[in-house]
Amino acid sequence: MGEIVLGMWTSHGPTLSTDPEQWTLRVVADKKRQHPFRGQTYDFDALVRLRAHEGLADKCSLAARKQRHAGCEAAIAEMAARFAAAKPDVAIIMGNDQRELFLDDLTPAITVFMGETLWDQPASPEQAARMPPGIHDAEWGHSPPERREYPACPQVAEHLVKSVIAEGFDVAVSRQLPEPPGHWSSGVPHAFGFIYRQIMRDKVIPNVPVIFNTFFPPNQPTAARCFAFGQAVGRALKTAFAGKRIAVFGSGGMSHFVIDEQLDRRIFEALRTRDQMALASIDEALLQSGSSELKTWIAAAGVLFDSDLTGDVVGYETCYRSEAGTGTANGFVAWQ
Ligand SMILES: [Fe+2]
Repeated sequence: MGEIVLGMWTSHGPTLSTDPEQWTLRVVADKKRQHPFRGQTYDFDALVRLRAHEGLADKCSLAARKQRHAGCEAAIAEMAARFAAAKPDVAIIMGNDQRELFLDDLTPAITVFMGETLWDQPASPEQAARMPPGIHDAEWGHSPPERREYPACPQVAEHLVKSVIAEGFDVAVSRQLPEPPGHWSSGVPHAFGFIYRQIMRDKVIPNVPVIFNTFFPPNQPTAARCFAFGQAVGRALKTAFAGKRIAVFGSGGMSHFVIDEQLDRRIFEALRTRDQMALASIDEALLQSGSSELKTWIAAAGVLFDSDLTGDVVGYETCYRSEAGTGTANGFVAWQ
């Protein structure tokens, strides 16, 4: 059996890889959308009214955005340093797909990558032209400057799949990354690419991507199911990766595209106290849109609560971009 030597929960979104001046490019889209927030749905102007007492104009000023951005950069540097210090040989990465691999023709709830090789590449000019404003600028943060291939762990992935299937988790498998023709994205989803680029700093260790549909109704696994799945993965790991040092990641979150600091604090507290019920019982209405990515954190917690690791919050930065409270709360937790 291997040894779990590192657990990391990290945000991965575009605010981490774009200048704070560019964050407001997304406000145009924010104004066109309906936003889930604390169980209700609001348009932009309704959110501005609802949150008028929170001082969000100050919190999304350029000065505040620069300060938050600097905090994120420091936290990412610390996460990368702790990753390097832990010297893991292999990784399990719980991440989500945001219509990068799986489209309307097929969207599995949970997919384990079982192939030999992962890959990623920058968008072609045609693909870049089809991305929403502010998204292509962030690409360097999760995609390499040229096509690169990375090692996966097909034997361990197969062992994990057999093990969780025996426990009643009917996961999908992929032996090669889907390449939908003419799609705007190619290669690994950014949830995984961010780990490769910014936490592993391009020294990508063999890893098993577990790809969750957190975003797209109606087949998102529930919080309770994600935690239980993580526990099943943890049990499977007890007979895998003999002699190896294992890192476990949850890649996503925290609250976005409307920031909810209450929800984020609740997650931090549940991790600190290893409170399974607190994670598994989070109302599904709170885990919609970008905040749904916190389910990858919950799945990672399912593995890590049963480990000997302990740790702390490395950073938490509420990267507000508008008076409606839109933006991304970026959080980072490491257990060694
Ligand atoms: Fe994401």
